[in-house]
Amino acid sequence: MYICLEGIDGSGKSTQIVLLEKWLNDCGHDVLRIFEPTDSSIGKLIREMLRNPKAEEEDFQKTLALLFAADRMVLMDTIKVSEESNNVVISDRCFYSSIVYQNDAGWLYEINKFIRKPDIVILLDLDVDNALERCEGNDSFENRAFLEKIRKKYLKLAEENDFFVINANNGINKVHDDIKRVISPKIGRCI
Ligand code: TYD
Repeated sequence: MYICLEGIDGSGKSTQIVLLEKWLNDCGHDVLRIFEPTDSSIGKLIREMLRNPKAEEEDFQKTLALLFAADRMVLMDTIKVSEESNNVVISDRCFYSSIVYQNDAGWLYEINKFIRKPDIVILLDLDVDNALERCEGNDSFENRAFLEKIRKKYLKLAEENDFFVINANNGINKVHDDIKRVISPKIGRCI
């Protein structure tokens, strides 16, 4: 079982993944926790490139898209081996982040065509006001517009791909309960 959590920055993915792992462990599942960009050398290069002021530019985004696809490809074997041992794989971001953050969807599907798609995608949907508050982010017109755009793309993708959309504006425990409710029926031993 390969589960992916998606959402805009500040939506609480990392907090929820820690809680989810603990809950799964408590009901007897072994868990592999992964994240994208990874901590491989490609992932490290991506993080460095994301800090470049040119990161928003179109050609730069294309380079990033290729690197994200390569970084993800490196994970495939790890996921496969882990699943063969019946582990539950939980990922902080996956292929859908590329669709949302990088442009040119057709080409993105092509360069990611060897990527295994998750069995369950959970979108933590957070209002932009709350995202800006949580990250003490810059409340400039551009940043707000960017987050609004990303959130909208996520919601559209969620509809087209049957993601489970969870209201991330609620408190940590409520969000955790909502996630458990989504996963319980798909997984044995956890009720
Ligand atoms: P993330 O690790 O979630 O951020 P943080 O380092 O704050 O925990 O992801 C880093 C950024 O990478 C995030 O803004 C989204 C972006 N990203 C893409 O643009 N495309 C992708 O395919 C992925 C996986 C991430």
